Amino acid sequence: MSKPLVLAHRGARSVAPENTLAAARRAAELGADGWELDVQLTADGELIVMHDGTLTRTTDAASVFPGRAPWRVADFTLDEIRTLDAGSWFMREDPFGTIAGGEVTRDEAQAYRGERVPTLREALLLSADLGLVVNIELKGTPLAPLSPQGREMVEKVVALVRELGLVEGVIVSSFDHERIRYLKAIAPDIPAALLVLVLPSDPVGYVKGYGADALNPQATAYDGGSARQLRAAGYGVYLWTVNAPDELARFAADPCVSGIITDWPQRLRTILGPTGYHPGGPR
Ligand code: G3P
Ligand code: CA
Repeated sequence: MSKPLVLAHRGARSVAPENTLAAARRAAELGADGWELDVQLTADGELIVMHDGTLTRTTDAASVFPGRAPWRVADFTLDEIRTLDAGSWFMREDPFGTIAGGEVTRDEAQAYRGERVPTLREALLLSADLGLVVNIELKGTPLAPLSPQGREMVEKVVALVRELGLVEGVIVSSFDHERIRYLKAIAPDIPAALLVLVLPSDPVGYVKGYGADALNPQATAYDGGSARQLRAAGYGVYLWTVNAPDELARFAADPCVSGIITDWPQRLRTILGPTGYHPGGPR
């Protein structure tokens, strides 16, 4: 039986600041097959790795640029964003209690200070070096028509993936399904997935309609029957975000699950045993 891919959510974000190169390194050290990251466009059209549409939760933007509220990513250039500290908040907030719990030492947490917001290029290059698959989530507006920004983001991601020769090492996903439709229209060879909060009534027809390769449902919406249909039709099923040990064990044993996105890749790797993933088809 093939094992589901272990995908570290925003990197190994339980033990490192999310969406940073440090989080990717920790994911690799903890035995993840890959990581999921979020992509946004800066004011000058650069692809950066960040979850929120604003800079304040995970960087010191508010103190570095006090007059620039509400600190939208889209209002800052890459050069400005590169001055920010995207690591110190992790020590201050200890978002998963792993510093207090001793899983992350104070020295390790201190070392995250000054971590920079990565460009997608840097993240992909490091991932290639580490042998990590990358799930590139395109942040956008769900259920909206394809916007000029959406089109620009898709075209830039496609160009970058091609330039770096990483078509077989990525899967692109989005809640903005029109971005996926467009991506598959201009790059049918790049694997792509539709993120959903609830399952469509006809999952196979839905995925097929967008030309996608996989459906990525929120784990709470998972339904074994739909997953069986999708897998039988040749589509992937990636679940997010699964963290509880009993849930991880349940989905790890489900042959219809292609991959599991988790904040705790170390837990999932322990459940699954040694990695069995071979590049060439993240589906
Ligand atoms: O890719 C699945 C998951 O990352 C989507 O939710 O909010 O963590 O980006 P979010
Ligand atoms: Ca995400």
